Amino acid sequence: MKRLYESKPAALHVACLAGTLLLSFTLLLPPLRSAPAAEPQRQSADYLSAEDSDVQALSAVAQLGRKMFFDKSLSDSGKLACASCHDPSNAFAPANDLAVQLGGADGKRAGVRAVPTLTYHEHTPLFRIGPDPAIPDNDERLPPIPVPAADVNVAAVAKADAANAARAAAEANVPQGGLTWDGRAMTIQGQALLPLLDPNEMNNRDVAEVVDHLEHAPYAADMRQLFGPTLFLQPALALDEALFAMVRFQLEERSFHPYDSKYDAYLAGKASLSEAEARGLKLFDDPMKGNCASCHIDTPSRIGNLPPAFTDYQFEALAAPRNKDIPANQDPNYHDLGLCGPYRKDFANAGPYCGLFKTPTLRNVATRKVFFHNGVFHSLEQVLHFYVERETNPGKWYPRLADGEIDRYNDLPPQYKKNADVADAPFDRKEGDQPALNDAEIADVIAFLKTLTDGYRPGHDAGK
Ligand code: HEC
Ligand code: HEC
Repeated sequence: MKRLYESKPAALHVACLAGTLLLSFTLLLPPLRSAPAAEPQRQSADYLSAEDSDVQALSAVAQLGRKMFFDKSLSDSGKLACASCHDPSNAFAPANDLAVQLGGADGKRAGVRAVPTLTYHEHTPLFRIGPDPAIPDNDERLPPIPVPAADVNVAAVAKADAANAARAAAEANVPQGGLTWDGRAMTIQGQALLPLLDPNEMNNRDVAEVVDHLEHAPYAADMRQLFGPTLFLQPALALDEALFAMVRFQLEERSFHPYDSKYDAYLAGKASLSEAEARGLKLFDDPMKGNCASCHIDTPSRIGNLPPAFTDYQFEALAAPRNKDIPANQDPNYHDLGLCGPYRKDFANAGPYCGLFKTPTLRNVATRKVFFHNGVFHSLEQVLHFYVERETNPGKWYPRLADGEIDRYNDLPPQYKKNADVADAPFDRKEGDQPALNDAEIADVIAFLKTLTDGYRPGHDAGK
């Protein structure tokens, strides 16, 4: 693979540009490289130095992408690299506990969303609206709602038919896949341009400014050597090659997808879970308790037997409370509605998609400092309590209106509050009901979530 890149980078690149993320990953890379068991956990931010043996194993294009990933000169301020927000020593997410990160020309402009991990995106399907089973998950289809005999009750038949039609439509129109919280980037490659141009992030005016930075970067000579001496005479091509290089880095560098958590060792029969972790896994799977695995899938995929990604790549409205720590939220008319905008434009009028965000992977989730798309939660305890108490004790999560009524789902405008998921456990309870998980059970689920942190060393306990 490495030799191929060195001798014929352009040809491969065209194939990869045209291909999908999935395709490029499965064709060009082994799906899973297992870590040597005794390798020490990597902690330091500089472990991706050129001397690192993993870096040596990267193709020439990926090594170039690595330099770009750490290059602050690609930002307008000269102070922000991809790695500034996607910190390699913290599963490629921020190590600080800000809900949103700062960037822009003066390094003080706040973003609008929490920074996701960059680990385990390599099997993300392209964004699409389509039937459920097309994605690599293990979801079972629901049985149809029985239609009562026609002579019994016409209204009931109509109702059941309508319910079947609605369910069929819902099953055929599931938004899934893509990168970012709203899936607006089709592929990792398409994604990389977004931060480069985002005024809250790397703040380049346009593609020409990005290409200008590249042309003056210390690795410009590498780019000419790999992609041709006249590369910078064709700015669009230079940009494509640069984005391609960053993707190759994210796909080839092992630390983006080491699959060496305790849970991976457990699935491989090389580790056993502690009692608390095992109880947590059971609660995670149980449709009447956590029901977590119905969205955060924890078994290998049906198609391709890929290791569990802990997401079904689908979109849901979980109605996280509004986060006053995001400056954009000071405007009461501003709403981050995920799939239906304002950052993604194509579903601006698709009411049922408003408030839906992509289900994130839970791999390395215990290393996160803020949770959910708006970073409103600061611990796994808070997240778990929100899941099981959102409906049973809404007053704990949402403020009260002037008339004393609880302002349920207060980050959604009134017309979209109905999109909040109340069908799936643990959200299917009523006010005053017992939460689906008690405190001891929550502790067990969190013990399990900690087994998803990479860098497990057999004989040591993960996540401690
Ligand atoms: C100022 C902080 C910041 C910088 C710098 C930054 N990102 Fe991000 N990144 C984010 C945020 C915030 C999101 C989520 C954006 C959204 O959902 O709209 C994100 C999302 C992503 C995603 C999608 C992850 C997912 O879960 O779907 C990828 C891939 C990514 N960034 C790669 C990069 C690359 C490559 C660079 C450098 C060219 C970069 N980022 C620079 C903040 C940053
Ligand atoms: C109906 C699908 C669904 C179910 C069931 C579900 N989740 Fe989630 N989960 C999501 C979505 C969607 C998000 C992102 C929501 C957002 O940001 O607005 C999320 C976010 C999270 C996060 C935050 C991750 C991050 O990177 O910020 C954690 C932790 C989490 N879920 C754990 C769980 C656990 C534990 C359970 C079971 C108790 C569970 N989830 C059940 C869909 C689901």
